This record gives sequence, structure tokens and C-alpha cells, in this order.
Amino acid sequence: MSFYRYEKNEAFFGDRSARDLIESFGSPLYLYDENLIRTRCRELKAICGHPNFRVYYSAKANSSVALLKIIRDEGLNVDAMSNGEIYLEKMAGYSADEILFVSNNVSKDDFRLVIKERIRVCLDSISQLRSYARLNPGSEVVLRLNLGAGAGHHQKVVTAGKVKFGVQTERLEEAFKIAREYDLDLMGFMSHIGSFFLKEKPYLDNVRQLLEVAEAYESIRYLDFGGGFGIPYDKSNHQPFPIKAFGESFSELIVAWMEKTGRSPVFAVEPGRYVVGEAGLCLTQVQSTKTNSNTRFIGTDLGFNILLRPEMYGAYHEIVNAHKREPQVTETVNIVGNICESGDYLAREREIPAISEGDILMVLDTGAYGYCMASNYNSMSRPAELLLKPDGSVIQIRKRESFGDLIQNQIF
Ligand code: LLP
Repeated sequence: MSFYRYEKNEAFFGDRSARDLIESFGSPLYLYDENLIRTRCRELKAICGHPNFRVYYSAKANSSVALLKIIRDEGLNVDAMSNGEIYLEKMAGYSADEILFVSNNVSKDDFRLVIKERIRVCLDSISQLRSYARLNPGSEVVLRLNLGAGAGHHQKVVTAGKVKFGVQTERLEEAFKIAREYDLDLMGFMSHIGSFFLKEKPYLDNVRQLLEVAEAYESIRYLDFGGGFGIPYDKSNHQPFPIKAFGESFSELIVAWMEKTGRSPVFAVEPGRYVVGEAGLCLTQVQSTKTNSNTRFIGTDLGFNILLRPEMYGAYHEIVNAHKREPQVTETVNIVGNICESGDYLAREREIPAISEGDILMVLDTGAYGYCMASNYNSMSRPAELLLKPDGSVIQIRKRESFGDLIQNQIF
């Protein structure tokens, strides 16, 4: 679903053209669509009509406070991976009871901060369960399980099986023993299998597995099945995640489980990418074009410090010219960034309508794991972030970094 349109062959967002935005806020930049974020939140809430169903937005996908505020306004809870995320979530108006801290190899000092905030913690290992129990005996905790079957678009984002995450079911008795020792209320299980799948099967298998494990443990009153719902990055090869059909199967499973067990826990999903992925894009200006060794390079100012996904996972993002030329003559090109490494590609050998120096390109579906994975590598400033409002206006939600930002914590 695109939130731009062409007027006289120029891409527009509400009342602003792509060129106008680049001239006003610099290149590159991130731009998000509020309407689409709201639509995705509503689709997720509609997965299941049961009053015990909750959606936790996984803020690691995009933790810009202006977006968190929209997501909170839509009634989604939120997860946090760090005290930094908790800080931003509180800025967006989230209260402690709307946040789940999904911990992974956390220091005791970080645990102390979360305990002070009275935020529920999901623990990721037997040793962290014990450390946490010592710091906060008598509290409620959730345990992350590793049920063995993971899924995801790349080995780096598969989070079940032979990976560092979660506790295997063989160790559950030990976990409950520690809980008894420290008077902990081990009241929840969580299992997140990985990130990005477009078919519902692996997720539903995980739901079935987690429900089965939970049957034996009467104290469990919270079941969190994680996130991972994909978005169609490659429009010619990907079908959207079938959220409605998924919702029906998911609801059937949990209703059947409640009937069978006579129990009524909270059921949660924890998506990140699905909420914000398609609602964001990057604008970047073409600074040069060249041919080296019979290979055509289009040089943009969008390096992997700003959008890491293509470099890190070989991820595909559709790239569209904000200036449409008629007739469209295509060429096969390599679209690269401005970082001093040869791996700095946005697209390899991509067939695309011919691009000229000065053109503005739109790199689509970068709302998730885009800005939040950006860095200052090569001492480049991170860009501005903009938001297209439902009334068609475009507002700035984060300023481009200045040179001053590059030295603000340096001592010399
Ligand atoms: N819950 C937990 C515990 C997670 O670790 C994650 C993602 C999510 C939920 C949300 O997953 P999602 O619905 O967004 O797939 N940087 C990678 C993705 C890393 C995912 C990390 N964990 C990428 O750009 O593809």
C-alpha cells in the first residue's frame, strides 16, 4: 500500500512533493504515514475478538516517540528490549502496566531500574531467572521458552532452535523450583520464533506448541506468542501476510484451549515490522552515476549507516524514482550509498527505469528496522524523520543531526 501519488510525474505526499521535502529537510530522510500505521494497528487488534487478547507493539522496529504515541493512541501495548526503550515509551505516555520488558542478558543494574519502574519482566534463561529472583523475590515473571522451531527471512533473525534465546522445556521444572524458592509468581510463557514470514503456518505451529506446554502449568495466566508477521517487500513475489485468515485460525486455537482447560489467560502477540514497515520510506538524492568494469552504478547519499538492512541481510527494498519519465526506458543498475565500503549497496543488478543525477529515489518499506538501526559510521549525521499527517500536512518528528551531535559526548 503506497502513501505517495504522482502529480504531473512528480511524487507527492499529501501537499508536499518529494523534491520539496528534500529541499526543506535535506537528503536523505525518513518519512512515515500516520494513516497506514493506524490501519495496521486496527488490523492487528482485530485478529481476535476475545477480551483477553492483547497486542504488544515491538518497539525495536521503530522507537520514534511520535510514532509510539500514535500506536499507543490506537490502544496497543508495547514491549521493551532495554531501559532506553522504556524511557522512550514513557515519553510517549505508556504506563508501567502497558509495557513488557523482554530481557536478554541484562545487567543487575538494568534489572534494578526495571524493578523500580514496576514493569513486568520476561526472562530469557535459568541464570537470569535466578538473578532476577534474588533482586525481586515475590514478584510476577514471564519466562521466554525456546520450543525448537524457528522461522525468519534470514538466519540472523531466527530466534528458536539452536540460538541464544529462551529456555528449553526440559528445564521448566528447574525454573518452577527457583520460582518456589524465591516466592516468584511464574505466571507467563513467551515464545517468539523469529522475524518475517508471510505464511501463517510457522506461527500457528508455535501457538499450538506453547498452548500445549501451558496446559500442565496452572499458574500460567499470560501467553505471549511473539511477533514476526511479514510485509510484502518484493511486490512481484510476495503476497501480504493473510492477517484475517490468520486471526480466524488463531482465535479458534485459543478458544478451543480455553474450553478444554477451563482457564482464561491473557493471550498476546508482539509484532513490530507489521505495524510500521510499510508505513515508512527513505528519500535519497542521486549524487552521481558511473560505469566501472561494464557495471552501472547509481550513487546516492543513502549509505548503510542510514539503512542497514540490504547490507546486513541482503534484504530487498523496492526503489522507485520520484520523477516519472515517459516513455520509461529501463536499465540494469547497482544502487549504492556514500559509505567508504564496497558492500554499501541498496540494490544489486536491479532493472529499473533509467535514473539521472539529481533524481530523488524512494526506498520503500523502511519504516521497520530502518532509522533505529542507523549509526554515525563515517561520521555521517543521522537524517531527519518526517510524518505525513491524515490531513495531508507533513511535519518533522526528528531533526537531522548536526556536527555538534557528533561530539556531544566526546571529551578532548
Ligand atoms: N518480539 C521479540 C522478542 C523480538 O525479538 C522481535 C524482533 C519481535 C517481537 C518483533 O518481530 P517483528 O514482528 O518485527 O518481526 N533487524 C531485523 C529484524 C530483527 C528482529 C528482532 N526481533 C530486520 O531488519 O529484518
